[in-house]
Amino acid sequence: MTDAEYNLISKVNPEKLPRHVAIIMDGNGRWASLQGLLRSAGHSAGVKTLKKILTVAVNLKLEALTVYAFSTENWKRPHAEVDFLMHLFSDYLEREKAEMHEKNIRIRFLGRTDAFSDGIRNRIREATELMKDNTGVKFNIAANYGGRDEIVRAAQKLAKKAAAGEILPDDITDEIFENELDTCGQPPVDLVIRTSGEYRVSNFLLWQSAYAEFWFTNTTWPEFTPEEFVDALIDFGNRDRKFGAVKN
Ligand code: IPE
Ligand code: IPE
Ligand code: MG
Repeated sequence: MTDAEYNLISKVNPEKLPRHVAIIMDGNGRWASLQGLLRSAGHSAGVKTLKKILTVAVNLKLEALTVYAFSTENWKRPHAEVDFLMHLFSDYLEREKAEMHEKNIRIRFLGRTDAFSDGIRNRIREATELMKDNTGVKFNIAANYGGRDEIVRAAQKLAKKAAAGEILPDDITDEIFENELDTCGQPPVDLVIRTSGEYRVSNFLLWQSAYAEFWFTNTTWPEFTPEEFVDALIDFGNRDRKFGAVKN
């Protein structure tokens, strides 16, 4: 870790660190348009931001970081943009996986990754397999992910178990349901960050963020910096979380 990186993370009180941070990396297209560039250039710039933020997460020893890379609704975009995003995603995995592994990151993918091409599915499988026993930051990439879709898939799995006589419908609890979600075994989301001045959830982690704190910024994702990420974490540390109870 460089001195500058150390100074930055020293601003955060480790006792007030969220366990699980989720980021809606939004505004790549608008950033590019403002520069007179194609939207694809915005996505490429966004990957650079992701690398910097992941480094902060590693330095802070954050337990889990989930990023929204592609939603189940993003297929509605022009074919060329979707195609560009797929290649970018695949290249990112190939290029970064060794370094992530070295940093003890455990990568996991949330969403219907089976819809991707064979090439991308292979890269996802290789990266997941390579890092499966790592004990550092749990880094989740939500790709072809939708919160509703994830909940529906969990319901289908439980319905199949019930139909096969493996469980009784009345035995289904919060916990049993959660075990069927893509994030199984990970802590609930404490903090959701969304960039680019949009104040919505866009089908991200609907179950997991039931009691999450939200932090919004007008900064677009390509312009988002480690300093601003740390600001969000500090702000989180000052929130008064009540989880429905009365607090004195
Ligand atoms: C987020 O940036 C990246 C993805 C959704 C893949 P956008 O592409 O949504 O950028 P804007 O919101 O159009 O500016
Ligand atoms: C959410 O951003 C999805 C990702 C960041 C991958 P969108 O740009 O797709 O969301 P909307 O369409 O503005 O709600
Ligand atoms: Mg957007």
